[in-house]
Amino acid sequence: MCGIIGILGNHEVSPLLVEGLKRLEYRGYDSAGIATIHDGRLDRRRAVGKLINLSDHLVHNPLPGKSGIGHTRWATHGGVTVPNAHPHKAGPVAVVHNGIIENFRELRNELTAAGYVFESETDTETVALSLQMQIDRGLSPVQAAQSVLPRLRGAFALCCLFDGEPDLMIAARHGPPLAIGHGDGEMYVGSDAIALAPLTNQITYLEDGDWAVVRRSGAEIFGPDNAPIQRQKMVVNIDATRIEKGGFKHFMAKEIAEQPGVLADAMAHYLQDDRLNIDVDFAGVGRITMVACGTASYACHVAKYWFEQIAGLPCEFDIASEFRYREPVLSPTSWALFVSQSGETADTLAALRYAREHVARIVSVVNVPTSSIARESDLALPIMAGVEVGVASTKAFTCQLLVLALLALKAGVDRGRLDAAALAGHIAALRALPGLMNHALQMSGDIAGVADDLARARDVLFLGRGAMFPLALEGALKLKEISYIHAEGYASGELKHGPIALIDEDVPVIVLAPRDALFEKTVSNMQEVMARNGKVLLISDKAGVEEAGQKTWARLMMPDCSPMFAPILYALPAQLLAYHTAVAKGTDVDQPRNLAKSVTVE
Ligand code: F6R
Repeated sequence: MCGIIGILGNHEVSPLLVEGLKRLEYRGYDSAGIATIHDGRLDRRRAVGKLINLSDHLVHNPLPGKSGIGHTRWATHGGVTVPNAHPHKAGPVAVVHNGIIENFRELRNELTAAGYVFESETDTETVALSLQMQIDRGLSPVQAAQSVLPRLRGAFALCCLFDGEPDLMIAARHGPPLAIGHGDGEMYVGSDAIALAPLTNQITYLEDGDWAVVRRSGAEIFGPDNAPIQRQKMVVNIDATRIEKGGFKHFMAKEIAEQPGVLADAMAHYLQDDRLNIDVDFAGVGRITMVACGTASYACHVAKYWFEQIAGLPCEFDIASEFRYREPVLSPTSWALFVSQSGETADTLAALRYAREHVARIVSVVNVPTSSIARESDLALPIMAGVEVGVASTKAFTCQLLVLALLALKAGVDRGRLDAAALAGHIAALRALPGLMNHALQMSGDIAGVADDLARARDVLFLGRGAMFPLALEGALKLKEISYIHAEGYASGELKHGPIALIDEDVPVIVLAPRDALFEKTVSNMQEVMARNGKVLLISDKAGVEEAGQKTWARLMMPDCSPMFAPILYALPAQLLAYHTAVAKGTDVDQPRNLAKSVTVE
């Protein structure tokens, strides 16, 4: 899952390519590179590591030219080295690629047998060399693309540039999204409209299987059978200004702090007084199947409790990478609900396409309304979190939870399980959350104190019961992805079935337990940990801390909130613990190693 950009411009393109890559860095930051055509010849610059390394390289080795392509890489095939960085060049061809060419071994063997020599370990270079082979045989670049593209299997978005052709880019989409941007005598290609936002808001999205011949005068689009095809041009308005940290040290800190505001915005969008402003009707819906990855899947896991407890609606959830391969039993009366911040996660999108044949309705809960998942849904509900830059999802998670909670309330109303008074009670509890979050954010200093100790741990366990169990999973994920400390989340009652063997004085155990109906049971599990010298951090409300906080290693006292929606509020201390621990360890909070913000490969 890399980011690609292409520009046929009227000015020097290097700075524009780098700016576009900056906006795509969320897709990967293992290496970056650009290629341009100058005096009719292709040339390129590449650097491993963050984009800043490429920018530095360009200061000393500028790359002139008004036509160019660029790439930011999340490594799939081949290590993080300059030869494996894109653009890949083969003779008169330069290629940038997002995705995976699955039959690259077969192509590589053919090309090697024909005498072509590989410089990298990547699958992408097979595309560049295949195009070169066809051009060597006398085909034009467009004819070469016509002959090579049908041979590629897998998931790919490509953009190619050719020696001696400063007014030509060839773009192709098979899986990962690709946008064509229309300028004034200029044309652009990008992995998404966000990359192109400073250049244009006139966007044509390629559909799966499309490829395009792009020139400054416009783009001709073809289907997989090479027949010309019309695709709609639309106006996609995305704030073109670069998202800044706004005085915070990290984007993650800013995004954690933004949660009261964005949650209130989302509530203003979906709630009018005590009415739910959501255009769905759950009457007749037999079952909800929710599918997502990572943090978004934990939001689904929490929502399963809500759909069942509030609406009595049978509900299941699955992680997208498993969903379609286990041949799930879906029914024509069920709805499938896909949750994704980026709206581009390959596994979630593939699961959506699988479900389309089998369910009555596809609903998505997304942060990017122009994303593939949003566009392929019958109904896309925006979470209104605003751009999330930090790789670790924070504000998107709580906004996903909010929208799912509102959907569960709507299901409760439509299914006759919630009367007006009960609905008003739940809505009041949700409306209280932004204020309570502001209180929770004030605990940041206390949390930083605990995090200094946590940073020395090698393993950390998170425990929760009921809807706090998925939050324990989320707390553990957050901690491991940005602090690199091994962490696991468990249902409190499950501890004695195995994980308790891990407990000793060196393993901090973080217990997420508001004083709700399950509190006493969770406290019993906590006592089992303390009886084995376990080091417990109890995160609870005043009543909970007063009742069970003695003898714990540390306590964090949260404001009181409705037990039903406590996972939304308790997400904040979990996020802040991970954040401060990572800061104490000195890791790269916003761009942790090996990760990318948008995962567009399976
Ligand atoms: C973790 C995190 C990931 C994402 C997952 C799904 O902090 O951000 O686990 O939640 O990769 O991404 P989206 O929501 O874009 O589908």
